[in-house]
Amino acid sequence: MEVVIRDTAEAAAELTAAVIAREIKATPHLVLGLATGRTMESVYRILVRKHRDDALDFAEVTTFNLDEYVGIPGDHPCSYRYYMNQHLFSHVNIDLARTFLPNGMAKDIATECRQYESRIKNRGGINLQLLGIGRSGHIGFNEPLSALRSRTREKALTPKTIEQNAPMFGGSEQMPRWAITMGVGTILDSHRCILLATGEEKAEIIAKAVEGPITSMISATALQLHPHCTVVIDEAAATRLEQLDYYRWVFANERDWDDFR
Ligand code: GLP
Repeated sequence: MEVVIRDTAEAAAELTAAVIAREIKATPHLVLGLATGRTMESVYRILVRKHRDDALDFAEVTTFNLDEYVGIPGDHPCSYRYYMNQHLFSHVNIDLARTFLPNGMAKDIATECRQYESRIKNRGGINLQLLGIGRSGHIGFNEPLSALRSRTREKALTPKTIEQNAPMFGGSEQMPRWAITMGVGTILDSHRCILLATGEEKAEIIAKAVEGPITSMISATALQLHPHCTVVIDEAAATRLEQLDYYRWVFANERDWDDFR
């Protein structure tokens, strides 16, 4: 794992988008794992700008989103399909037939989950997985006690997640109680992953995810097992980390980051 600290949330999103853009340029048929949430909105805004101003080409890119709510259709404004269309897909030259999210309206959810895993496998796995982190430490919707080897499946959302995401639904009554999410094991199989977290409200959970012991209570701690995981944060989200000087030293010296400093 490596930790990259940028001064502001915008600079953290810029760096995340720059890594994604570099991967797409190097591998035009990239299989890209995508995340939703407020933090990601800036990343998608920057990617749209790169498409418009720097001809970043999504024509051959395939995407797999981490998760989707159960019981709301793709044209519901709170669905993650709607989010992706709004923030990214409708503004770039991506082929919608290559954009995958779990179908939260599937009649047979277990079959849908198995098929989602097969689709990822048939495309050779995820090259780069983008991740956010929930306040409970979840990645995707892998709520506390999610098995570290779990695969795509249906999960009940915790009260904390419902509280965090309810404002988007106009209150917790309207909020779905379940979601389909890639498992922790599915995420760990990605070739590279990049977790973006910004703001003071993420500082405590980031410290636990990066420096705490690996535990299924905080699924993001499993990323310590990932062979190539980058955690990108702003100064506000970095305040509870103990080894800041070390992370800055690594970033200043690792050749991989030569183009980004
Ligand atoms: C939801 C998503 C997560 C995301 C989290 C963080 O719970 N399922 O994948 O990481 O939101 O959201 P935000 O960026 O709004 O804090």
